[in-house]
Amino acid sequence: MLSDAPQVLIALEQSGLGALIRQSPWAYPIANVGHIVALTLFVASVAIMDLRLLGAFAAVPPAAVVRPARRGAMLGLALMALTGFMLFTAEASHVAMNRVFQIKAALIGLGILNALLIAGPAVARIAELPAKAVLPARARLAAVISLLTWILVAACGRLIAYF
Ligand code: HEM
Repeated sequence: MLSDAPQVLIALEQSGLGALIRQSPWAYPIANVGHIVALTLFVASVAIMDLRLLGAFAAVPPAAVVRPARRGAMLGLALMALTGFMLFTAEASHVAMNRVFQIKAALIGLGILNALLIAGPAVARIAELPAKAVLPARARLAAVISLLTWILVAACGRLIAYF
């Protein structure tokens, strides 16, 4: 426990849930594996969605690819948040004070804002476009921001252990 961490994080770490995750031989490993399994669903969905927005798979109408991929990405992110919260709770005071985790959290916020404010309206605008249509510049911009942001988030996730 880091005593200079905010009180609310120390309380979370010392809660029954925090103790259970630390003491159970299964809870932390299951959350860790769950985080990685969710990561595969999330990153695969994001990659398919963003590559289509950048012009790949042009033989298929964009909405037919982007809509289901976006749902997959939302499910993946929800599972990452759930399993990530379990990992976080076990050692909240340490993890929250870790600079790389702080960068990761800010990037997750950026990725979600991009998905809502830039990609969301772009996806609505491509709803009726046929296969091979040129996609709006806003859709390509959202895809580039998304790919860069989520790759950096994944890298930060792995790097937390080293800082
Ligand atoms: C949505 C909320 C999320 C929370 C609260 C969260 C939290 C965490 C925590 C606490 C760890 C363990 C750090 C450690 O002590 O080593 C972790 C690991 C990791 N996270 Fe997340 N995470 C979230 C989302 C994501 C996303 C969206 C990605 C990827 C795009 C990601 C990728 C990773 C990776 C690759 C690891 C390392 C796993 C390992 O080395 O076994 N996380 N995350």
